[in-house]
Amino acid sequence: MPFPSDYTIFPILQPASDDHLAKWVDLRLQGLKLDPASFSTRYEDAMKKTREEHLSRLNDPLIRTLAVETADGTWVATAAVGIFNDQSFGWVPEKLWEDGKKGFLLLGLWVHPGHRRKGLATGIIQAATDFARGYGGASGAEKYMAVEVYEDVAALKMYEGLGFKAKTSRESDGRTVVGLSRVL
Ligand SMILES: CC(C)(COP(=O)(O)OP(=O)(O)OC[C@H]1O[C@@H](n2cnc3c(N)ncnc32)[C@H](O)[C@@H]1OP(=O)(O)O)[C@@H](O)C(=O)NCCC(=O)NCCS
Repeated sequence: MPFPSDYTIFPILQPASDDHLAKWVDLRLQGLKLDPASFSTRYEDAMKKTREEHLSRLNDPLIRTLAVETADGTWVATAAVGIFNDQSFGWVPEKLWEDGKKGFLLLGLWVHPGHRRKGLATGIIQAATDFARGYGGASGAEKYMAVEVYEDVAALKMYEGLGFKAKTSRESDGRTVVGLSRVL
């Protein structure tokens, strides 16, 4: 499915501007409120975060955030790519590390309900893939993109349809979280 021509997809440049910060926080909060079952972060906790906490997430050098806007400038979809790194982050699921390979983690994918089934998520995943393929030059190491998704949400089928293969499984708050990955 080609990316629909009436939308624009772009990376949020670092350091993020005030306008991008405000639009991203608004979109993120909408997603957590409307689709709480899809995310481990709770809306109530995200609401309590300070401007600086949101900004440090957008400006994290190991995270590249993407957004999609309509022709009138309304932001309707977002996701981010986390770069696995030696010093990384507690939040990279340990089981998703693949020794000798360069990993990337897809994070926080959300498309506004009024804009679904038009290929926006597919387009964001493609943009995330393009970013990961180009990241760090030609190191020679095989690259892969991983994602974690609750087993009971529809996104699991979408990832499988896009060629992600289930690799891991863990329990979190009584639900099963599946880890999938795809060679880049
Ligand atoms: C899952 C989600 C990101 C999909 O976004 P989208 O822009 O509608 O996805 P696309 O249009 O790119 O869909 C591509 C394909 O994935 C599959 N797919 C997408 N949503 C699906 C659903 N709800 N049920 C079953 N299959 C689905 C379909 O095969 C679809 O192709 P088709 O429309 O030609 O049938 C969106 O529904 C969403 O934001 N959900 C809530 C948040 C969430 O679960 N995020 C993922 C967290 S890991």
